[in-house]
Amino acid sequence: MERLRIGLIGAGFIGVAHANAIETIIGEKLAAAEFVSVCDADAARARGIAESFGAKEHCSDAIGLIDSDKIDTVFICTPTKYHPEIVAAAAKQGLNIFCEKPLARTLSEANEMLSAVERAGVKNQVGLVLRFSPVYNVIKQLISDPSLGRPMTVLFRDDQYFPIRGIYASTWRADFEIAGGGALIEHSIHDVDVLRWFFGEISGVQSQIKSFAEHRGIEDLAAAQIKFRSGCVGQLISVWHNILRRESNRYMEIFFENGCIWSADDFIGPISHQIADEDTVVVSSEEVLQRYLASVGLQDAKYGSLHSAQGLEDYHFLRALEKGIAASPDFRVAVKAHEIVDAIYVSARS
Ligand SMILES: NC(=O)c1ccc[n+]([C@@H]2O[C@H](COP(=O)([O-])OP(=O)(O)OC[C@H]3O[C@@H](n4cnc5c(N)ncnc54)[C@H](O)[C@@H]3O)[C@@H](O)[C@H]2O)c1
Repeated sequence: MERLRIGLIGAGFIGVAHANAIETIIGEKLAAAEFVSVCDADAARARGIAESFGAKEHCSDAIGLIDSDKIDTVFICTPTKYHPEIVAAAAKQGLNIFCEKPLARTLSEANEMLSAVERAGVKNQVGLVLRFSPVYNVIKQLISDPSLGRPMTVLFRDDQYFPIRGIYASTWRADFEIAGGGALIEHSIHDVDVLRWFFGEISGVQSQIKSFAEHRGIEDLAAAQIKFRSGCVGQLISVWHNILRRESNRYMEIFFENGCIWSADDFIGPISHQIADEDTVVVSSEEVLQRYLASVGLQDAKYGSLHSAQGLEDYHFLRALEKGIAASPDFRVAVKAHEIVDAIYVSARS
């Protein structure tokens, strides 16, 4: 098979993380690909990131790059407002598409994007990166234990400092026209995806959103009660505060009829669980990682750099392209998450 020819559009906070992962995957020969171009509206930034991560070229015109025939695979990492137009152009051109979450500012735009990629028949994946979190993968394994009984309730708290400062420093996250909303769509779309992944389809939501910082249309608190068809009831709290020294993190606690599972870290663990009257078992961070890597067949030492480069989702995407199989999580999965986000906004408004 010919080598994949990769272009990356939007070389900001998350674009750099993907550039780093792409360089690592190519450098370690974990996929047959070449890093062709970095595109950013800021031409100097495009050049700097291309040079830092081994891309051959750089440019500042996203549509020009897509139409150039130089690439067959694109990573779209611009602010949310620009995703739909770039995805439409890439689908028309028949490119393999990795698009960052949220797909778009609204559910209707996200649905149009899904139609575009499915009509074009292109391989697609969305940056719902918690699907590659060792913690949530191991919790997913743990909740399949039938001795736990039925899941009764889940508490999922997601907190982050308002990402217009600190390492994110993105003015656009306070701009409704570009972001489409605040903590819920921009950050907790990950959480609703995890909740649906764990507990299945959702039958209803009741919610409140608030904007303490008073950026128009940008909620910094979303609190939702989520009812699953199974009977389980979840509570999602998503908050953007001003505690700059506090790292972005999540707390999850699940109660079953006969046990509970909890973790105060959204990526590396540890995870604790208790069944009936047995002692609490703590799965250490190291064990969480090993269990996860074993479950996806990546235990060999040559994959070690992937996890530290946060490259697992990119690796799985590129491998799916090489194998000619569907990538996951795809736009269809992301649209389901958008539907839940939309329902939470609708409930809050009413
Ligand atoms: N998966 C995750 O965990 C995760 C984390 C952070 C951000 N994101 C998502 O990634 C996207 C980007 O976020 P970010 O934090 O990297 O933003 P950012 O502001 O740090 O970077 C965006 C970059 O895109 C460039 N840009 C803007 N418009 C462009 C265009 N039309 N063509 C080319 N380049 C353009 C900007 O110059 C900037 O360098 C957002 O949709 C965000 O929600 C996902």
